[in-house]
Amino acid sequence: MNIPWYHKTTIYQIYPRSFYDSNKDGIGDLKGILSKLDYLQGLGFETLWISPFFSSPQADLGYDISNYTDVSPDYGTMDDALQLIDEVHKRRMRIVFDMVMNHTSIEHDWFKESRASRDNPKARWYLWKDKPNNWKSMTGGSGWHDAKERGQYYWSSFLPMQPDLNYRNPEVKKTMFDIVRFWLGKGVDGFRLDIFNVIYKDAEFRDNPFSTKVVPTEDDASGFFQESKYTMNQPESFLFAKELRNVCNEFGEKMLLGEIQGNTEIIKNYMTENGDGLGLVFNFEMLNFKFTAEYFFKLISKIEKDFPSPFMPVYVFSNHDRRRSIHRINEDVRKAKLLHLLQLTVRGVPCIYYGEEIGMTDSKFPFGAAIDPIPHKFKFVPRIVLDAIGLTINRDEVRTPMQWNGTMNAGFSSAHKTWLPVHKNHKAINVDVESKDTDSLLNVIRGLLKIRREESAFSEGILELMENLPRNVLGFKRKSGMNEFIVLLNFGAAGKELNIEQGECVFSLSEKTVLDHNKLSLPGYGGAILKIMGA
Ligand code: GLC
Repeated sequence: MNIPWYHKTTIYQIYPRSFYDSNKDGIGDLKGILSKLDYLQGLGFETLWISPFFSSPQADLGYDISNYTDVSPDYGTMDDALQLIDEVHKRRMRIVFDMVMNHTSIEHDWFKESRASRDNPKARWYLWKDKPNNWKSMTGGSGWHDAKERGQYYWSSFLPMQPDLNYRNPEVKKTMFDIVRFWLGKGVDGFRLDIFNVIYKDAEFRDNPFSTKVVPTEDDASGFFQESKYTMNQPESFLFAKELRNVCNEFGEKMLLGEIQGNTEIIKNYMTENGDGLGLVFNFEMLNFKFTAEYFFKLISKIEKDFPSPFMPVYVFSNHDRRRSIHRINEDVRKAKLLHLLQLTVRGVPCIYYGEEIGMTDSKFPFGAAIDPIPHKFKFVPRIVLDAIGLTINRDEVRTPMQWNGTMNAGFSSAHKTWLPVHKNHKAINVDVESKDTDSLLNVIRGLLKIRREESAFSEGILELMENLPRNVLGFKRKSGMNEFIVLLNFGAAGKELNIEQGECVFSLSEKTVLDHNKLSLPGYGGAILKIMGA
């Protein structure tokens, strides 16, 4: 069976604005990423996903594009982008860009033309109606917005400055597919697809049914008292995934990684069994993980049942929209190590967010001063309520500059002021300090990535969960051909003793892990990988 490269890879997400500032303006840029490629190669990730750096008024920090084939001066030039592709490839890594296909910026020339009148050449490039129906946007409130020039309303799934394109218009589809071809022609290895689940809306604009649900969840996008029946996951969107795959196939084996809100069946409709759809979709339910063996046993069982080979799940615990994973585990580095031991050895593509490898933590900023547009929409809701529901409203808090060292601005920039303040804990939590500490989270992740690259059982093998382990202990086997490994993880604070039939310890999270005469002692929050001999 041919397993595509993107099912075997490991992904590192870079938020360019916050990674490294090469020109002292306080904003990270492409040259900054270029200068850190050796760090990323040394760390051992195989694929880099770069959040958008295209021309944009930055009202949603680049997720509002005004020209898909040009680079925002905030981040550099087209030459920088091409050099980045080239330099990543020289290091035998891959690079995927972020395609925001669903909507443009309100400042895109297409939209300016479209809104000018009802009969211009781009009049049907967006979704226009004389009167709004009952549809709510993903961020709450009506998604219909008045455009006086045209005397009509346009639809936007996310925020008002991000009008949705009309993919029922063949010209729009062709133009966007040509943009995809443009970047594939430049050598990118694929795309992460922004809010792909809303790409089509009901052709007849039928009203959405009432729902009692208030807060949308990962598996069910209904919310704000409305089912998302006619605004999300339309049958045409599944077909569109296949059309996009066909476009990519013109250029070889390319990664398509979907951001989808929906249940298992919906996700599988986008991925398709024979691989002619997206190929990868984030398994977002685990962003809300609970740090217990029981939770992960159930999660892995469910994923193995719902997404057996040839499907490949994506294990993701943090991104630029959600709280950093370490926030959910009381910023406890021992727990973070265990979490990443799981993420890098389980059957699935791991996706790590910049700074997660050193245990960067969230900042806390007042909503009123936010650069992120979302908190301005929710200023009237007390923060305590939003925190209690577990919503990440002010995304600035998870986007602070990368902490490279303990010097000014954490070594991210030598500007007087950075676009967001660096976290005050940067003196203790940074790449420099952790590189020198053999026991750091950074070095644990580096070590795990090395094992994963060397042992195909982790990237290609089957997974078997182990039953009847002591309380708080999770274990699974990974097997490929003659190679077999056991991964054991102790989610409890107390040490555990386990009887092991055979095996040699090839990795452990703590020196206190001892394997002696088939008895494995795992300290609290300890974890180990055992290689099974003669299998
Ligand atoms: C996705 C992005 C998010 C962005 C939104 C609108 O959810 O991850 O950052 O604001 O889409 O493009």
